[in-house]
Amino acid sequence: MAEYCFEPKKKEGKNMSNLGLIIGLLPLLLNSTSRAVAVADDYSRNDFPPSFIFGSGTTAYQVEGAAMEDGRTPSIWDTFAHSGDGPGGNGDVTSDEYHKYKEDVKLMVDVGLDAYRFSISWSRLIPNGRGAINPKGLEYYNNLINELISHGIQPHVTLHNFDLPQALEDEYGGWVSPKIIEDFKAYAEVCFREFGDRVLHWTTVNEPNVFAMGGYDMGFVPPQRCSPPFGKTKCSKGNSSTEPYLVVHHCLLAHASAASLYNKNYKDKQHGSVGISIYMFRFVPFTHSKQDAKAVERAYQFLINWILHPLVFGEYPKLMRKNAGSRLPIFTKAESSLVKGSADFIGIIHYQNWHVMDDPQSLMMENRDLVADVGAKMMMLKENVTTPESLQRVIEYLKQVYGNPPTYVYENGLPMKRTSLLEDVPRVEYMHGYIGAVLDALRNGSNVKGYFTWSFLDVFELLDGYHSSYGLFYVDLNDPNLKRYPKLSARWYSNFLKGKATF
Ligand SMILES: *[C@@H]1O[C@H](CO)[C@@H](O)[C@H](O)[C@H]1NC(C)=O
Ligand SMILES: *[C@@H]1O[C@H](CO)[C@@H](O)[C@H](O)[C@H]1NC(C)=O
Ligand SMILES: *[C@@H]1O[C@H](CO)[C@@H](O)[C@H](O)[C@H]1NC(C)=O
Repeated sequence: MAEYCFEPKKKEGKNMSNLGLIIGLLPLLLNSTSRAVAVADDYSRNDFPPSFIFGSGTTAYQVEGAAMEDGRTPSIWDTFAHSGDGPGGNGDVTSDEYHKYKEDVKLMVDVGLDAYRFSISWSRLIPNGRGAINPKGLEYYNNLINELISHGIQPHVTLHNFDLPQALEDEYGGWVSPKIIEDFKAYAEVCFREFGDRVLHWTTVNEPNVFAMGGYDMGFVPPQRCSPPFGKTKCSKGNSSTEPYLVVHHCLLAHASAASLYNKNYKDKQHGSVGISIYMFRFVPFTHSKQDAKAVERAYQFLINWILHPLVFGEYPKLMRKNAGSRLPIFTKAESSLVKGSADFIGIIHYQNWHVMDDPQSLMMENRDLVADVGAKMMMLKENVTTPESLQRVIEYLKQVYGNPPTYVYENGLPMKRTSLLEDVPRVEYMHGYIGAVLDALRNGSNVKGYFTWSFLDVFELLDGYHSSYGLFYVDLNDPNLKRYPKLSARWYSNFLKGKATF
């Protein structure tokens, strides 16, 4: 998904003439091994264990395009993008990986990726959300997976990345209904059965914490549910006091049901693993006061432990129960044991620090949403969005608080204006810093098994459309062929992965 709350948007005209110039210069830039990037070249790939996986990722709606082709039906993000409430732009065509996957896999080979993280579009594979499989959808994912495998690239596959089939949203309200659990499980089973002979790394639900907060409390992302006085936008339906909790509850049960099915019917034959990914904020106290330190603890409980605690201990954190009361659903005994231990690994998604300030008043309000239940104001400070140390800290957090489960850093990357120079020096510095932080965490005993940059290509950014991008490759949207151009970061990553001197 990338940045949860990106800095205020400025409308930017596309500055393609500059870009043409840069593209002309690119071969010069890339061939120059003496490029002076201001980072110490103090580690190499050989410092990582041989089994450590380096990859990069995209997601279905953001990269595939062909949104109305070959039997695919809209997801809730298609609906949102076309509603005019979003940042502008949509995924109708975007980078068109649906048609260009062979070319893209070739680029992955050129860079030297071990793995590619992508998601399956549920409404492409099963257009009504349940029932009949779309043969064209099946064929596409088989083709993509085969292309990756035949080039020695591991597929890491996410099943739900904010893109619920609109059909299920319309039929019963999607994730607010417990009906979603069976439908998700059936969809997961199709994926395990059809692709599991080649796919060994499954992520069920991406960022349930942000999905619930953004889509059901603040309501600024699909399905745009919230209730007054909460929410950043006017929502036509929803309940900010209850639905975020309900939705995460259903996400956890859907995840656990799919994982349990995998363990029962597929694991012996396929030997893969099933995990879940979490948007890992690092929370930083706003001041040095005791109150703000306490507020930071509450922020972790409500936004991170919310997901992790049930997965590890089979129940929600006690403090959540205290503050949210009966609005927080309860796991039955059977559900609790289903959820407990149901994640083989945790996907870490890190982009941001949030600063946290105690706000005791919010807990005194009768009518509270998720955010008010935290009893804190949480904000992203522009001057301190994140640091490499922050990634190290969130990896450490999983080790120290949750017994060091296997983790993959599944998303991390730097946004720049889409039309920035191909010579993306700040991104190279960012990657150097954050990969170094992963190495530090690894050396201090963390069970981190892989690092994936966001994103492989410039894609349709869910919260920022085509204004900013994170890709290792620029995609020229004005070119009917959507030609891809390597940025300096692609070359840097490639050199790093191949054990060559980096710039
Ligand atoms: C939200 O749900 C709670 C619990 O059912 C209820 O008390 C409250 O009135 C609802 N709020 C809205 C805005 O519907
Ligand atoms: C930025 O974060 C670092 C820790 O990562 C901290 O030491 C520093 O004080 C922060 N700066 C601000 C302005 O919050
Ligand atoms: C390294 O791990 C130990 C034990 O978990 C922990 O106490 C320490 O804070 C960690 N150091 C860093 C720099 O994260």
